[in-house]
Amino acid sequence: MRRKAVIGNWKMHGSRADNAALIEAIVAGAADSSAECAVCPPFVYLHEMARLLRDSAIVLGAQNVCAEAQGAYTGEVSAAMLKDVGCHYVLVGHSERRTLYGEDNALVARKFVAVHSRGLAPVLCVGETLAERETNQTQQVIAAQLDAVVTLCGIQSLEQAVVAYEPVWAIGTGHTATPQQAQDVHAFIRQRLAGQDAKIAAELRILYGGSVKTGNARELFAMSDVDGGLIGGASLKADEFLAILAAAQP
Ligand code: 13P
Repeated sequence: MRRKAVIGNWKMHGSRADNAALIEAIVAGAADSSAECAVCPPFVYLHEMARLLRDSAIVLGAQNVCAEAQGAYTGEVSAAMLKDVGCHYVLVGHSERRTLYGEDNALVARKFVAVHSRGLAPVLCVGETLAERETNQTQQVIAAQLDAVVTLCGIQSLEQAVVAYEPVWAIGTGHTATPQQAQDVHAFIRQRLAGQDAKIAAELRILYGGSVKTGNARELFAMSDVDGGLIGGASLKADEFLAILAAAQP
């Protein structure tokens, strides 16, 4: 039985004051959650968030990482640094990184390796654009995104990882995938990985992301291959995020 997870991706939002209020409310509201709860604040706030989360069950994650281990990479942050400040999860290959910052499958796979090799848990984000969906390329695009990681890092590396299916057309648009659309892609991801290792595929958590709200979370999370959500906008409001977390409880 896979434990459901709900991860908040705060993207480039918040301030020290906003975050403190948000995290305080989440800590209080998530105390009895049987589903896992995690938040991914911007880099500069991670250290302080780790302190605020110290006595809670809420897990800390980062939104991005450098593929290199250390050195002359001005402006970058390494996996070791993220571990040092208390992160457990690291998002790799978020669609905003892919489309706005030119990260291709090869770079995402290298970032995945950097995270995995430091003992952190990568959250590998995959998903197709609207044009790709409309031209029936969804499976092909997602297969290539998965295969780049499996080829470089090996199927065993997925044991510690989470996959997040985030159709680009659903992110921040209010157009969420239907539960059946999400289920179909999640099942495809699991089936493709099962071709390499059935046990790892069966135990892998696959989260859905893209306009998840209180009004649609429960029906999405009820699908057999949807193991929770990666939440953007709705993770910035404590009551909404907690309601989504509640929808992930059995
Ligand atoms: P929204 O929930 O705002 O659509 O964002 C989803 C997302 O990109 C989470 O990583």
